[in-house]
Amino acid sequence: MSNSANVVKIAPATAPGDNSTAAYDVEKIRADFPILSREVYGKPLVYLDNGASAQKPRQVIDTMSDVFESYYSNVHRGVHWTSQKSTEAFEASRGTVGKFINAASVNEIIFTRGATESINLVAHSWGRKFLKAGDEIIISHMEHHANIVPWQMLRQEIGIDLKVVPIDDDGNFMLDEFEKLLSPKTKLVAVTQVSNALGSIVPVTAVIERAHAQGALVLLDGCQAVPHTAVDVQDLDADFYVFSGHKLYGPTGIGVLWGREDLLNSMNPYQTGGDMIASVTFEKTTFQKAPHRFEAGTPAIAEAIGLGAAIDYVQAIGMDNIAAHEHGVLQYATERLSAIKGLKIIGTAKEKAAIISFNLDGIHPHDLGTFVDRAGVAVRVGHHCAQPVMDRFGVAATARASFGLYNTREEVDALVDALEETRKFFS
Ligand code: ALA
Repeated sequence: MSNSANVVKIAPATAPGDNSTAAYDVEKIRADFPILSREVYGKPLVYLDNGASAQKPRQVIDTMSDVFESYYSNVHRGVHWTSQKSTEAFEASRGTVGKFINAASVNEIIFTRGATESINLVAHSWGRKFLKAGDEIIISHMEHHANIVPWQMLRQEIGIDLKVVPIDDDGNFMLDEFEKLLSPKTKLVAVTQVSNALGSIVPVTAVIERAHAQGALVLLDGCQAVPHTAVDVQDLDADFYVFSGHKLYGPTGIGVLWGREDLLNSMNPYQTGGDMIASVTFEKTTFQKAPHRFEAGTPAIAEAIGLGAAIDYVQAIGMDNIAAHEHGVLQYATERLSAIKGLKIIGTAKEKAAIISFNLDGIHPHDLGTFVDRAGVAVRVGHHCAQPVMDRFGVAATARASFGLYNTREEVDALVDALEETRKFFS
């Protein structure tokens, strides 16, 4: 485990077209992803929507097939061979997740349906237990709706206050403004590590230091960070960390909540039912400790095991190698897109990861997205579940290219060619 990087490392500048290095064979990586060899509309698929969901390598697909073909059963409930084997693989995957983010204990890894559920779990189980009217939660202006709405619900129910850290015109998190918002009333700071709409990297180490100095806890939304950079929750000194499996080349329907073990065990259960109890009588129920305390019902078994395979996959490549490769692709894309007449990049923060949002003058992003799709290029268009970011930049929507470990500079060229065609068509 790397134990340091909480920001994307800046790779040395490389020449356009330079996709592979001795440490990084992008063509070999691409060959692991069956979908990347397909065509759409007779054109090679250029998949640049990794921020929404990443494609899956053969290693993940095969691991999940193997679960169902060889040993699938329910977990934690059977003495028979298949249940024992499934439980072993499920819990081994929890261990893989724990090592991946350097959790102090495997008990700190809660499997959820995704980052959205992880944040809702914290709002429900920590927020409703420990917050009272007048307490404050700080979020930033570039949060995904999943890191806004659960706290608004607490505001409505409990009467907490929600404070919002502004972002500057480039999409940088404004640390000085954040400091002004902190007060003894601040109980939680819940911020993204990387903005899904802009790609801005938030200075989370500084955020955590300052929040802790005020006695506030910190929740980091790591959805757009874990696929791109090494994360060490102990080194960060975070209190909660959440991410989804499907953006990390794993399956949908599985996500992670990491929390400090003492904190998790101080919280109320989220959902109740089977597997999360210690004992039940009609008079009284007692609960298990974390992680099982928060995993009521049959979990997403094959998905959790598939997530473990996805983590093994990215770790075999090396998170620092992935960060360096993607930084080169992002830098190249930024240069090439900036040269397109009428194209405006939304989000030009000093430190960015793997995401480039933009608009083409006079062309609705949905038209743009539809047009480039016909060239085989998949980008996301819309508000990216981050409407306040759109409001901040005075746009209704953007187009967004988001890169993954398998993207190449030739694919950026394909995007640029498609955008030039779009511009000509609409001019
Ligand atoms: N949150 C995902 C995105 O940014 C779906 O596209």
